[in-house]
Amino acid sequence: MRSLIVVTTFLLCSRSNLLSVSGCFCESKTVEVQSGENVTLLCSAFSKNRQQTDWFRVVNSSKVSCISSMFGVDGDPSYCDGFDGGKFEMNSNSSSVSLKISGVDESDSGLYFCGFYRNRHTVIGDVTQLIIK
Ligand SMILES: *[C@@H]1O[C@H](CO)[C@@H](O)[C@H](O)[C@H]1NC(C)=O
Ligand SMILES: *[C@@H]1O[C@H](CO)[C@@H](O)[C@H](O)[C@H]1NC(C)=O
Ligand SMILES: *[C@@H]1O[C@H](CO)[C@@H](O)[C@H](O)[C@H]1NC(C)=O
Repeated sequence: MRSLIVVTTFLLCSRSNLLSVSGCFCESKTVEVQSGENVTLLCSAFSKNRQQTDWFRVVNSSKVSCISSMFGVDGDPSYCDGFDGGKFEMNSNSSSVSLKISGVDESDSGLYFCGFYRNRHTVIGDVTQLIIK
């Protein structure tokens, strides 16, 4: 994690249109890591009562992939197709949700975000742009 550089940048609001989410997550973080390193992305939890939490990745501004899901705050994570080989590890506790990616390579670049389901609504959490050098 030594070479992790965290820079706050601004993400155009129009990018959120692609997900049909009302509201705007205009601020996103950019995280740069060297190929081969591990990185842990964090998502702050707005709700301790969340019923489900998911991680997603957007690649090329057009393709959204589900990475993993978890029911409740401390359920077992379930990984989506292509993300189930142990490279991705989702963890959660009452204060945050994390996604660890071990041994990143170029194909892991993209926009990562989490979503919570609670009270019949999906809420999108922190957005992180991951850049692999
Ligand atoms: C994204 O675009 C690049 C360059 O056009 C391409 O090589 C890559 O396969 C695309 N990735 C996905 C997931 O579509
Ligand atoms: C909750 O998770 C975060 C990120 O995984 C971690 O930094 C923190 O120590 C955890 N807190 C507790 C109480 O386990
Ligand atoms: C990366 O994570 C893997 C699996 O958890 C661990 O075995 C390895 O030591 C970690 N590497 C670094 C550089 O932290």
